[in-house]
Amino acid sequence: MYDWLNALPKAELHLHLEGSLEPELLFALAERNKIALPWADVETLRKAYAFHNLQEFLDLYYQGAAVLRSEQDFYDLTWAYLQRCKAQNVIHTEPFFDPQTHTERGIPFEVALNGIATALQDGRQQLGISSGLILSFLRHLPEEQAQKTFEQALPYRDAFFAVGLDSSELGHPPSKFQRVFDRARSEGFLTVAHAGEEGPPDYIWQALDLLKVSRIDHGVRASEDPRLMQRLIDEQIPLTVCPLSNTKLCVFADMKQHNILAMLEQGVKVTVNSDDPAYFGGYVTENFAALHEGLGMTAEQAKRLAQNSLDARLIKG
Ligand code: HPA
Ligand code: ZN
Repeated sequence: MYDWLNALPKAELHLHLEGSLEPELLFALAERNKIALPWADVETLRKAYAFHNLQEFLDLYYQGAAVLRSEQDFYDLTWAYLQRCKAQNVIHTEPFFDPQTHTERGIPFEVALNGIATALQDGRQQLGISSGLILSFLRHLPEEQAQKTFEQALPYRDAFFAVGLDSSELGHPPSKFQRVFDRARSEGFLTVAHAGEEGPPDYIWQALDLLKVSRIDHGVRASEDPRLMQRLIDEQIPLTVCPLSNTKLCVFADMKQHNILAMLEQGVKVTVNSDDPAYFGGYVTENFAALHEGLGMTAEQAKRLAQNSLDARLIKG
């Protein structure tokens, strides 16, 4: 089944580039940039990847991202991810990057963006993988900083097509970012947002009604609210679900508890994605395989999930 799942043509719509930083590359970049790490070796770092919630993961994720310094580092990170796409028949990807994770520690915005954009361009030309970048705001920081980040990004507007919202969800509702999302839409950008991962269904309503998102990232807590479920079904609003992420971060106790297939059968446009594959134990195919093993996903369901991902692309080719 793994090889068959791997060969299915699919799109990835929920992937944080910083979360694709494998421990081996993390150590190599630390050495290149002469950065001392608190872990003795790759194995010790891998052992630290045991999380009880989103925040525990984020603390390590931001620490890991600190080895990224030069344009070449961001290129290498993105290129390594695109190689994984190629190996797993991901023919289209719409990754996130978090500019504030880098500008906050003194890396110029354009250093990160240029490295990523150049790799995505090479991916189109050399690997045949189409892509579009989503600039994501860190919701634990004030809205003013998101606004500053957006203004900083505008001169590079051709390098990204949408804005998103990630980081610590609880206590940071979508409403906090209504103005910067209004501004982004007025400049012609699409919007997406993480909602309903750890946060309540109300955050999903807010993302739809206040931020006017085209997709919900995660959204698994929608199943607690029948009215919301009906809206997602009626309007065919895609959810970018990340099964291994959800079990690693204890959103579900184990894969047998996951609601993605129940939602699929109810008519919700759910998709399968890897979120932060270096931290959560696998890329898209591993997420599909985990659904087969843990939830008994059939080949027919896998085909529908893969087709949903192609349908839910926001940019074509
Ligand atoms: N949720 C919120 N923020 C994130 C995630 C996530 O799954 N991954 C990287 N940043
Ligand atoms: Zn995410």
